[in-house]
This record gives sequence, C-alpha cells and structure tokens, in this order.
Amino acid sequence: MIEIKKLTKQADNKLILRGIDLSITQGETVAILGPNGAGKSTLLKVLATLIKPTSGLVKVNGLDLKKDHIEVKKMFGYLPHSSLLYDHYTPLENLVFFGNLYGVKDVENRARKLVNEVGLSFFINEPVKNFSRGMIQRIAIARAIIHEPKIMLLDEPHTGLDQGAITILNNVVLSMKEKGCTTLMVTHDFKQAAAICDRIIIVKYGKIADDFKINSQSLSLVSEKYQVLVEGVS
Ligand SMILES: Nc1ncnc2c1ncn2[C@@H]1O[C@H](COP(=O)(O)OP(=O)(O)O)[C@@H](O)[C@H]1O
Ligand SMILES: [Mg+2]
Repeated sequence: MIEIKKLTKQADNKLILRGIDLSITQGETVAILGPNGAGKSTLLKVLATLIKPTSGLVKVNGLDLKKDHIEVKKMFGYLPHSSLLYDHYTPLENLVFFGNLYGVKDVENRARKLVNEVGLSFFINEPVKNFSRGMIQRIAIARAIIHEPKIMLLDEPHTGLDQGAITILNNVVLSMKEKGCTTLMVTHDFKQAAAICDRIIIVKYGKIADDFKINSQSLSLVSEKYQVLVEGVS
C-alpha cells in the first residue's frame, strides 16, 4: 500500500530524513515513536504532500507521490499538531467547509454524524474558539476523516485528550481499520500505541532504528526496546 525507498529530506543544510525505507500493507496500524527532533512529523508531512522530499521514492497504491500528488493527497487524512480549524466557525460549519473541499457527498449529514461520533453534538452550533484543547482535538479528528481517507496520518493525536476523547480516538482508528484503512500514528504514548497498533517503528536521527510487530500485551516490549535504542539503557 505504501512503499518508501531511500527517502531523504534536507532543509537549511540539515539532513532531517536520512534514508527511510519502509513498506506498509493495507489495514496496518503503525505507531511511529522516537525522541523530539527525530524527523517523525517531517515524515508525515512528506506523505501528506505538504512538503517535498529531497530524494527518494514514495508510492501509494501504485501511484507516485510526486507525479500523482493530487490523487494521492485525497487518499490521506492528516491530523497535524495544529487543528487547522476555523475559530469563528462551529464544528458543523468547519466539517461542512472541509467536506466540500474534498467534494464529499451529502456533506451536512456526514458532518452531523461525525460530530455525534466524537461526542460533541451538544456543542454543534458553538464557535470552536470557546472550545478546550480536547474538544478541538475531537473536531480535528472528525475533520481528518470527513472524506473517508484510505490512510490516516496522525501526529501526536492523544496529546491533551481526556479519557473519553482517548476512547473515541482509539475507536475511530479501530473502526477505520475494520474498513481497511491504514494508519500511521506518531505518538509518545506507548500505552495507546500498544493498545491500537500492530506494528511499532522507532525513528532516531532521521532513520528507522527499529521496526517490529506488537499486540496489546506487549507494552513492556515497546518500552524496553525504546529505552535501549533511544535512551541508551541496557
Ligand atoms: N522547515 C524546516 N527547516 C529547517 N529545519 C526543520 C524544518 N522542519 C523541521 N526541521 C528540523 O528537523 C528536525 C526534525 O523535526 P520534526 O520532524 O518536527 O521532528 P519530530 O516530529 O520527530 O519531533 C528538527 O531538528 C527540526 O528543527
Ligand atoms: Mg513532531
């Protein structure tokens, strides 16, 4: 589904991504772990076609990220650090706006359904500017999936969420997985990674330092490997 070969990204004479080789199959839920500055967000931005790679090849469902970037972009649902929402719009207005950008059919119904799914129906007509970080993140999750993407790119999605919102987010990821959606999720939350992901990738200095399968029982394996690779504990 996603094939990444010898991917590099240079900015200001600094090599941020130093040769990433990665192959991801459809329906996989992959957590990307690693210290601050490792290049995790940069990797997601390259995939979301927000920034161009310096060299290397990315193929998504056989399409070339460079040549077919308009088609490829539609396949991705990207949740960055910042919510991308319009402050003075309500959740419904935001979702209808972004849904229209993607040409979503019956957009208002879809938006109402998503507001309900993320547990904010009570606030559907209030401007987003009054919302807490967790509430904004809930709408941002809905925004990222309004066009039913084939791949979700989530950048630290659990940050600032309360327990209810974490459950909603995890359920979104798992129900999208059931529909065949692939997820790449940058996170520092090992517990959530072990709960919803089936594979862990550790990124260090712009390279993949480890790549292994996990299940919900292997939380200790994740922290052990991370400590050895990133924190130098042996
Ligand atoms: N546009 C840019 N220009 C120069 N340096 C950048 C740019 N974007 C990111 N960087 C640098 O690249 C490194 C990796 O950044 P990032 O991908 O955001 O790391 P992570 O998400 O793993 O914390 C950091 O050292 C950051 O300062
Ligand atoms: Mg980051």
